[in-house]
Amino acid sequence: MCGIVGYVGKRRVVPVVLGGLKRLEYRGYDSAGIVYHEDGALKKFRSEGKLINLENSMEEAIGAASHIGLGHTRWATHGAPTTANAHPHSDCSGELVVVHNGIIENYHSLRTELVEKGHVFASETDTEVLAHLIEEYLDGDLRAAVTKALSRVEGSYALGVLWTGMPDTLIAARNHSPLVLGVHEEEGGFMASDIPPLLPYTDQVIFLDDRELAVLTAEGATVYSLESGEEVTKETKIIAWNAAMAEKGGYKHFMLKEIYEQPRAIVDTVSGRINPETGSVELPEMNLSDEDLAGIERIFLVACGTSWHAALVAKYWIERWAGIPVEVDIASEFRYRKLLIDERVLTVSISQSGETADTLAGIRLAKELGSKIVTICNVVGSTMTREAHGTVYTHAGPEIGVASTKAFTSQLAALFLFTLYLAEKRGSMEADQRLLLGRELINVAKVIEKELPILQNDIKELIEKFYDSRDFLFVGRGLNFPIALEGALKLKEISYIHAEGYASGELKHGPIALIDKEMPVLGLAPKDSVYQKSISNVEEIKARQGRLILIGSKGDEHLKTITEDVLYLPEIHEELNPILYTIPAQLLSYEIAARRGCDVDQPRNLAKSVTVE
Ligand code: AGP
Repeated sequence: MCGIVGYVGKRRVVPVVLGGLKRLEYRGYDSAGIVYHEDGALKKFRSEGKLINLENSMEEAIGAASHIGLGHTRWATHGAPTTANAHPHSDCSGELVVVHNGIIENYHSLRTELVEKGHVFASETDTEVLAHLIEEYLDGDLRAAVTKALSRVEGSYALGVLWTGMPDTLIAARNHSPLVLGVHEEEGGFMASDIPPLLPYTDQVIFLDDRELAVLTAEGATVYSLESGEEVTKETKIIAWNAAMAEKGGYKHFMLKEIYEQPRAIVDTVSGRINPETGSVELPEMNLSDEDLAGIERIFLVACGTSWHAALVAKYWIERWAGIPVEVDIASEFRYRKLLIDERVLTVSISQSGETADTLAGIRLAKELGSKIVTICNVVGSTMTREAHGTVYTHAGPEIGVASTKAFTSQLAALFLFTLYLAEKRGSMEADQRLLLGRELINVAKVIEKELPILQNDIKELIEKFYDSRDFLFVGRGLNFPIALEGALKLKEISYIHAEGYASGELKHGPIALIDKEMPVLGLAPKDSVYQKSISNVEEIKARQGRLILIGSKGDEHLKTITEDVLYLPEIHEELNPILYTIPAQLLSYEIAARRGCDVDQPRNLAKSVTVE
């Protein structure tokens, strides 16, 4: 995600803001910028790449006497990671700037309106709309102008605003993207996307809530409701974290933080892409014509590791709802078989990083054979997104933990959207069905948010019996078979326990020989269309004294007759069970690895992005 830092007070602002941005580097970014007020004007510096590039571009400013300013590190979502797209962004006058973290869903319509009013845009970003919208309403009162502008905005924002007309004031505002204020009677006022930038100066913080705005001066902060305009009394909290803990938001590991970020990541991936009236799916970076899509006779899904598991789920969805035959290939195998690919085939790569060498090699070969290429990817401007004809971005934000969690469930959300998109283009699904399934997709995020703490608590207790196991089996059927594979991968890659995922129905063809009273088996058994078969499979395991853990639907008391170790999840639309049932598998693997004292975020032998073949 992007990082914001703002300061106003007695100190020189550049070292405070630059130091604060460095404390937010863990959030991942691809460009950065700083702006401060001096001698009646705004001094703005921006650069691509790492903060060192920004520092090198602003040597003259390091000693600046200014005491008020804003800084930003950008994780690109709309518009490539270039200097022109780096924040801060200015209005037409150059006297007002904004820094922003989040997604302005209705920026297209707002930009069109503002251009018609004569505003001139300098970037491709959704953020720049905010600067011109505030300018449109600015009439001497900055807080009023920001309030009016934000009443027009749909989407998520953590926002910082600075205007030469009020050179001792910063405005902060929040909706769905985190923004915290720091206050200190001597040090002045701070704003930041997270706590680390505040810690060197104050432990007194105020957490803004959604649809709140703050006026920040050297004397402190006053918070207002964006709905009523009334002042809001906020509690000042004292932070006891050290800097390392603060980078992880108080979580012990980035992986756990990212497991908990999944509801936000799914909503950010889906938001603004399903028209609530028509059910039409809008994928602006798809860049494939209706003729291209009508001509597709087969789809190849190509990926590695966890992303390959996402492809396996997508096969079920696309074939069922869009009626297009799908082949799924592990990318490192894809290139070594006779590929019956030509212009009638669409090849889709799935990749969090967009840099995985095996997957890149696969799509290059498919393109040579005449296939159109689409990539499902989390990194704007990555190699795969530049080489594909179309892209469906996930908006999971940077994933720091090597074991993929929020990127995976965001890939599933994006692939489900892609399925609805194909079904719409192929006329294989009515609008009301698309709307229903789109609502179910958002519902899953809400269910996950509610269930996460309950599951983690239950799993913490459960793993005492399993954390020292030598082996583990994960079994699932139908849409849950890929989730069994994903659970096994999570466990083996962070706890180093040998774990295998199997299709439940496959056990009797050999693997059941492994079952004895020592063998833990995690069985996925939701009340879905293959429930009875799944129950028969886990009964076979029980009959051989396997140590069963079952994950199933709340209220299904039958599961308790099979094993005492049952984790329950709410019943949702069964098509979306793969997203929901991934969560306990992630948490089980995380808790076991943490209990074994493993390096959860940086497991041995692994890299976050495998850029070698
Ligand atoms: C997942 O937990 C692993 N870190 C790994 O399997 C990963 O999914 C794989 O290397 C593919 O990476 P990509 O999604 O960036 O292409």
